[in-house]
Amino acid sequence: MPVTDFTVKEKYRYQNGFDCYHETEAIAGALPVGQNSPQKPPYGLYAEKLSGTAFTAPRHENRQTWLYRITPACSLSPFRLEEDRKTAADAFVEKSFHYLPDQFRWDPFPAPTTPTDFVGGLQQVAGAGDPTLKQGLGIFVYAANTSMDVRSAFYSSDGDLLIVPQDGALDIRTELGWMLVRPLEICVIPRGIRFQVLMLGDSNAVVRGYMLELYQGHFQLPELGPIGSNGLANARDFQIPVAAFDDDDDKKSTATQDGSSYVIRTKVNHRVYRAVQPHTPFDVVAWHGNYYPYKYDLGRFNVIGTISFDHPDPSIFTVLTAPSEHVGTAVADFVIFPPRWLVGENTFRPPWYHRNTMSEYMGLLTGAYDAKKAGAGGFVPGGGSLHNTMSGHGPDGPSCEAARNEPQPQQPAKVGAGSCAFMFETCLMLGVTDWALKATQSSEEGSPSVLQHDYVTHSWGKLPRFWQRPEGAGSADSHLLKE
Ligand SMILES: [Fe+2]
Repeated sequence: MPVTDFTVKEKYRYQNGFDCYHETEAIAGALPVGQNSPQKPPYGLYAEKLSGTAFTAPRHENRQTWLYRITPACSLSPFRLEEDRKTAADAFVEKSFHYLPDQFRWDPFPAPTTPTDFVGGLQQVAGAGDPTLKQGLGIFVYAANTSMDVRSAFYSSDGDLLIVPQDGALDIRTELGWMLVRPLEICVIPRGIRFQVLMLGDSNAVVRGYMLELYQGHFQLPELGPIGSNGLANARDFQIPVAAFDDDDDKKSTATQDGSSYVIRTKVNHRVYRAVQPHTPFDVVAWHGNYYPYKYDLGRFNVIGTISFDHPDPSIFTVLTAPSEHVGTAVADFVIFPPRWLVGENTFRPPWYHRNTMSEYMGLLTGAYDAKKAGAGGFVPGGGSLHNTMSGHGPDGPSCEAARNEPQPQQPAKVGAGSCAFMFETCLMLGVTDWALKATQSSEEGSPSVLQHDYVTHSWGKLPRFWQRPEGAGSADSHLLKE
């Protein structure tokens, strides 16, 4: 079955279909029929429109959702800048990126030692562009050991959030419903949608993962071109929450009834602001539209590859893409390297050596990546690497030598069994944050850096030399015109 066998079993219902128009009611009859804004919506609900594109965006891009809720989102106190240093504000305020030509690789970033929720555990690693201009993206890691308060919610005003869990399942409540998101699943929470991340099971467990914040546009499925009408990530495999709501008058509500306020936090231009409101933000009884959170099981990705020789460009592994103004050029691609068969013959099977105009941030969800050695000091789950625009990279020496020495004829081989690496790729030059350059493995004095300073030396410092100059061939002046 091309479905991941998750340790944590599913507990929610979903609607299926990427970029489809969905409608859902937690109480039958809560959606008005035939119009969006009746004088009195059913059951005394308010109608509230949430738009993800300009009203006048062309139909194929236009995204909006109508919410039918107990109290509109506008009913809250003024926002104040979040001063609590345990929140992510410090990371978000970090706008002085370092633009560097080097190749970088990191060990897993440290787990929190004090109670830290999803928002407090976000740290920015790299980024490009400017959320105030709705251009570019941010790349983050998160590590948390505590649920967000059940009387709190967070939303990004800066962009859509693509969350990629590496360790630990996330129980995510959004205004539009619940999603269980486990390692080897991803989810996207669009700009403006309020959500809460809860832990499952052991309250001391640490959850860890990666996040891409997309400042411009929205993710799409990549075009399939000659592949045809199916393949890669198929639209029907994306899962969208069904409506679910809390009611402050309901004594069975998951929120406590102590009369305290709900805290709403939002990220605006890298800073976190906080407001309070006396009512739950999770009070949407029904909604209809095409602007919503969704999740996807990476095990359902239909991998395409060569069946003759020379593997295709890794764009063949694109799950989601966010296009720039230039056709075929992405502000952000989300690309995975899942288990797959390699059957190409007389072929160098790992990634070839390359320098790309696109910038590549890679992470590893589980297992070992076939182009890099695993284990301590290598590319390990929870770690990351960055190959910025035009920085050269490729397999490390041992991986290269092993691939070149594969006996002929090359036999079909399954690579990546039990493994999944991924890449956030962008056409933009990525800046690296101070935090990513200076983070250490623990808070103890003298703790080693998370940044692997010997990455380049270890990977490519001693690449074997295979060159064999044919006897008598060529000369140093072969490019010169002869008399
Ligand atoms: Fe690459």
